Amino acid sequence: MVSVSLLGDQADLGRGGLPATANWARVYEYLLGGCDAYELDREAARAVYQTADWIKTAALINRDYLQGAVEWSLDREVRQFLDLGCGYPRTVNTYDMTEKAERGCRVVYVDNDPEVYAHARCQLDESDDTTVIRADLLAMEQLLNCEPMKAAFDLDKPVAVLVDDVLPWCTDDTAVQRAMGVLREWMPAGSTLSITHLTDHWHPSTMPAVRAALAAHDLDVRPRSRDEIAALFGDFVQLGGGLAATGRWHMQGGYVNHPREHSAAFAGIAVKQPLPQPATTFAQSEESQ
Ligand SMILES: C[S@@+](CC[C@H](N)C(=O)[O-])C[C@H]1O[C@@H](n2cnc3c(N)ncnc32)[C@H](O)[C@@H]1O
Repeated sequence: MVSVSLLGDQADLGRGGLPATANWARVYEYLLGGCDAYELDREAARAVYQTADWIKTAALINRDYLQGAVEWSLDREVRQFLDLGCGYPRTVNTYDMTEKAERGCRVVYVDNDPEVYAHARCQLDESDDTTVIRADLLAMEQLLNCEPMKAAFDLDKPVAVLVDDVLPWCTDDTAVQRAMGVLREWMPAGSTLSITHLTDHWHPSTMPAVRAALAAHDLDVRPRSRDEIAALFGDFVQLGGGLAATGRWHMQGGYVNHPREHSAAFAGIAVKQPLPQPATTFAQSEESQ
């Protein structure tokens, strides 16, 4: 495995060497039932849960969807994966799923959080085919042009890009739109872009309280509307039924019977056009003349 940090290795630690503020990577980890969360992260999770008891199910649905999105891209013969905002390693990660389909798939994990990076370096050290990069996805050009990225991907072939539950934590709309534009431009034709994104679509009256509970724990979140989320895909062609509640998108998922509002997010997978053409055989090219 290759690992590199474009942001240095230091965490922002408070007194006693513990993080000074809650952090969504760890709150999410706690909601999923993981143990990599400090007391201040658990307090934040409990505060949100008190205002929105769907938050835990929403986290589980999101993770379920990510796995579905990987399988879905594998079924379409995509063998290179870029997992942006990968979060803490879990029992099943992107590379574990790719290995079930075929050995030798390339997976690059990216996260800006120093603790996530430290855990990823230790626990995602699965093979020569994985790369872990600590980087800010908002500095997309820097990320895409770094040597480990260039070494990992063959840009003559499609890449599945996962941007699941990351962008709500990037509150600067202009910076997000810009970064996503650079990313879409970089992606080879036939690549798939998977996005899940928190929305207040189903919770217009509860979301202000959720935001307030998070803000009280120094967590700033930006739910976006259906149109704002759709715009993040640019002119890529939406697959399945298009943007949908996350639990409903992947119809084989375990959450299909949950109410849509438990998802709390929109999900979509879209493909960059034009699709690669199958290679023309000599006989076919002769026929067409
Ligand atoms: C909720 S977790 C999502 C994990 C995983 N994608 C999933 O869906 O299960 C969000 C992750 O995005 C990371 N993140 C947030 N802002 C980021 C940024 N600007 N650049 C890179 N990673 C970021 C956080 O550190 C966190 O680990």
